[in-house]
Amino acid sequence: MRQPQDIVLLLKAAGEVTRLRLLALLAQGELSVKDFTEILGQSQPRISRHLKLLADAGLVTRHAEGAWAYYRLNRDQTSGALSAWLMEHLDTDAPEIRRDLDKLSSLRGAQQERAAAFFATIAQSWDKLRSLHIAESALEDAIVAEAGQGLIDIFLDLGTGTGRMLELLADRYVQGIGLDSSREMLSVARAKLDAEGIETAQVRLGNIIELDDYRDTADLVMLHQVLHYFDDPSIPIVHAASCLKPDGRMLVVDFAPHDLEFLRSEQAHRRLGLSEEQMALWANAAGLSVVTCRTFPPSRADGLTVCLWALENLNSNNTKGV
Ligand SMILES: C[S@@+](CC[C@H](N)C(=O)[O-])C[C@H]1O[C@@H](n2cnc3c(N)ncnc32)[C@H](O)[C@@H]1O
Repeated sequence: MRQPQDIVLLLKAAGEVTRLRLLALLAQGELSVKDFTEILGQSQPRISRHLKLLADAGLVTRHAEGAWAYYRLNRDQTSGALSAWLMEHLDTDAPEIRRDLDKLSSLRGAQQERAAAFFATIAQSWDKLRSLHIAESALEDAIVAEAGQGLIDIFLDLGTGTGRMLELLADRYVQGIGLDSSREMLSVARAKLDAEGIETAQVRLGNIIELDDYRDTADLVMLHQVLHYFDDPSIPIVHAASCLKPDGRMLVVDFAPHDLEFLRSEQAHRRLGLSEEQMALWANAAGLSVVTCRTFPPSRADGLTVCLWALENLNSNNTKGV
């Protein structure tokens, strides 16, 4: 139960039109202050003031990342229940709300296009670029080990790029499917798989947040160096989780938190690494638990630490989560 003054604080924080607009946007996923200023067309100090009030009341949580700060709806207890009630009753066709949501969707579209343009230019050199920052062989050995002992019926590699994971696990699956939204990356993947005679793998053009065709089909789902291209990594995780069979497993590989801000401007990154706490939260929101998390220090001074997470359904019959 909450004290009367806490309830008043919550209601005051939510009871203002700009803040309601911010909450309606956050109901779509995590957003940065920069996103809010672009969508609402208001100054950064003004937006930050509103966000601070929401955070002080416990309606949103803040996560600082390099020069940016990301916000998400706090879905816990009273605050979560209030946000859920507001979103249930708020008319999303009200002009200012509709305009904000439309702007969010164009902003996301523009961000995706920037990422796609980046991948189109680096497709040929991606395999070299990927190994620049990380100790690749130790990581790949661990991926093979985490993929388990038995033969995998269906392996789904989301954001397959040049198909390295399909190649690495080629003798472990009956059928491998790699999905990617970049034609250029896929053409490198196709050429590579053909050259190596890997006939059990296929790559397809597709968006990894539109996966209805793959629901409950996969024994192993991989998200290898993909999540940091999303403002809200919980969205692809939820979609990836929907593809898992009940006893399936998901492997996620991504950078640990870092402060290489230039990766945003030069290599289309959106998030500067992912923390263990964030991954536990996102996994839980998708009905999964983190079974293992291993970190791999960089192989050179200017490199980055990489994490390998294994996730399973919360009610899986396999090893219980930690
Ligand atoms: C950094 S590459 C990683 C490729 C591969 N997993 C690897 O580690 O070598 C990220 C890949 O995610 C793909 N990608 C990003 N957003 C996507 C989306 N919404 N749907 C499908 N693929 C996406 C990009 O096209 C790119 O090929």
